[in-house]
Amino acid sequence: MKIGIVGATGEVGRTMIKVLEEFKIPVKKLRLFASKKSSGKTLIFNNTKIIIEELTENTMKEKYDFLLFSAGSNISKTFAPIAAKYGNIVIDNSSAFRMEEDIPLVVPEINGNIVKNYQGIIANPNCSTIQMVLSLYKVHEQFGIDEIFVSTYQAVSGAGHKAIAELQKQINGENITSVFPKPIAHNVIPLIGDTTTDGFTTEEHKMINETRKILNDYSINVYPTTVRVPVFYGHSESIVVKTKIPFNEISNVEKAIRKSKDVILKNEVITPIEIAGSDYVYVSRLRKIDETRFALWNVADNIRVGAATNAIRILMLKVGLL
Ligand SMILES: NC(=O)c1ccc[n+]([C@@H]2O[C@H](COP(=O)([O-])OP(=O)(O)OC[C@H]3O[C@@H](n4cnc5c(N)ncnc54)[C@H](OP(=O)(O)O)[C@@H]3O)[C@@H](O)[C@H]2O)c1
Repeated sequence: MKIGIVGATGEVGRTMIKVLEEFKIPVKKLRLFASKKSSGKTLIFNNTKIIIEELTENTMKEKYDFLLFSAGSNISKTFAPIAAKYGNIVIDNSSAFRMEEDIPLVVPEINGNIVKNYQGIIANPNCSTIQMVLSLYKVHEQFGIDEIFVSTYQAVSGAGHKAIAELQKQINGENITSVFPKPIAHNVIPLIGDTTTDGFTTEEHKMINETRKILNDYSINVYPTTVRVPVFYGHSESIVVKTKIPFNEISNVEKAIRKSKDVILKNEVITPIEIAGSDYVYVSRLRKIDETRFALWNVADNIRVGAATNAIRILMLKVGLL
């Protein structure tokens, strides 16, 4: 297979290279693209140095089996349609196309069937949404989800390479604030994205809209509060769910979660530091409120489950490896 990664030097891009290697994807040719400043530098794939190229229109007009984009929304909006027009399948990590009606928004374990015979741009959902819907899709299939109240505890790596450096510098005592609106070291910031007219943020709207699109049910109400915490890798979520059909006993919810692919239900509490580098969503602290409401805590590696691994699983699904 010939694969191109756009945004190869970023947090998600580097992890996609690692996941391709770890999952032993049969890659014959790997091309790496980033901004002009990275051009000529190298990254290692399967013990081979690969020279990073500057992203240009012409490079996107070549034929690839897959192009994996993770260089932000603006780059995707400019270059992904060119690549698609030239017959390429693009798997895009940005939010650029997620809510476009004719673009599939895919979590392979849940709705992978919609891309079986599809060519063009495929959108990878938002990281917080992926781990939430993975925890809940089997519950939704069985009992129908009415409402989800969710507070996120999102790692700084979700905001990219510069954000990781900002937390590290603040921990080291430097007084710099550029990526985040307030100091993030030793602090918590209950605002991710921009505030919109209804008071919810753009990040919260992603969780609302993308959950409905992935689960293909626009009656689900989602009430998120997205919060940045001083954790390097791994998003956590405190979730309260109300179902349409009573589940009666919490053991019935437990059984549904245990049937969910790539989700592990644990009795002991799981924290982000323990699951960084894993490709599973970990659910713990599952508890009953009443016959139609339960609460849980989930954690997942935001760069892997929430971005790189999901993208590679889409690729694997397309070539029959999943
Ligand atoms: N981090 C996450 O948890 C996460 C999860 C889901 C989705 N995403 C999405 O994935 C994308 C990348 O996120 P990230 O965390 O990997 O960001 P990042 O660490 O800041 O990396 C950004 C990447 O984009 C490249 N880039 C920037 N400007 C460019 C240009 N003009 N031309 C070509 N490449 C350019 C950078 O190349 P240089 O190194 O050359 O500047 C770098 O490779 C974003 O759309 C983000 O929303 C991230």
